[in-house]
Amino acid sequence: MSQFHVKSPKHCAKQGLSIDKFYRKLFLYFSTFLLSILSLIFLIWLILHPTKPEFSLQEADVYQLNLSGSHLLNSSIQITLLSKNPNKNVGVYYDELQVYASYKGQQITIDTTIPPFYQGHEESNLLTAALVGTGIPVAPSFDYEVGRDQTAGKLVFSLKANGRLRWKVGTWVSGRFRFNVNCVAIMPFGPSIPSGPLSSKQGTQCSTTVKSQAHNFWGPNKLMELGYKQ
Ligand SMILES: *[C@@H]1O[C@H](CO)[C@@H](O)[C@H](O)[C@H]1NC(C)=O
Ligand SMILES: *[C@@H]1O[C@H](CO)[C@@H](O)[C@H](O)[C@H]1NC(C)=O
Repeated sequence: MSQFHVKSPKHCAKQGLSIDKFYRKLFLYFSTFLLSILSLIFLIWLILHPTKPEFSLQEADVYQLNLSGSHLLNSSIQITLLSKNPNKNVGVYYDELQVYASYKGQQITIDTTIPPFYQGHEESNLLTAALVGTGIPVAPSFDYEVGRDQTAGKLVFSLKANGRLRWKVGTWVSGRFRFNVNCVAIMPFGPSIPSGPLSSKQGTQCSTTVKSQAHNFWGPNKLMELGYKQ
């Protein structure tokens, strides 16, 4: 303590300056190194540029779609989705995937979570989910709309999925990207209620959107995830 006070202020200042210089140099080296790594990753990213995953609705079966009172719906819908990764060099981690059915813009089942999975290069997976709802409030027009569909001879509803995915290129794994899937299910719905479920086997392509790419690529969690492996 007393030793410190004896030193001349000039000496202290000089030492402080050289330490400062050292750290500034270190920082410069480090940031240059980091910047070149990030540029390299970005270049690889641009070359490989992942194509968004593809989904198609293979089968949908409506077991129940019943109103109690005038506006509380019980529903039970079984679906099978085919999920495909079209990329030759990019794998996909599906970290979150929630599926629900929607009718004329209203959600008619609760969200069902599909367990996380990894999808390799050009790999496909069949995903099944039981979508249910008990006492879900719907608009008073619901009954009328279903009646109109029945008159038209077909029931049309949407199957929606929201999730988060990460791309895997070699051993590098990207940040998380939100994505949405929208499928249209069309099933014959005649005037007489069939004994079995209303059913549709179609294999129609769904639309997929992957959101805010640049933001996620350079996002704040990026550096932590650079070394991430699973
Ligand atoms: C509605 O519920 C009744 C009785 O619970 C059942 O018989 C009928 O099949 C159901 N309708 C549909 C469309 O699920
Ligand atoms: C809907 O489900 C609830 C709870 O299981 C039940 O009490 C009600 O009767 C059901 N309504 C119809 C129309 O099936």
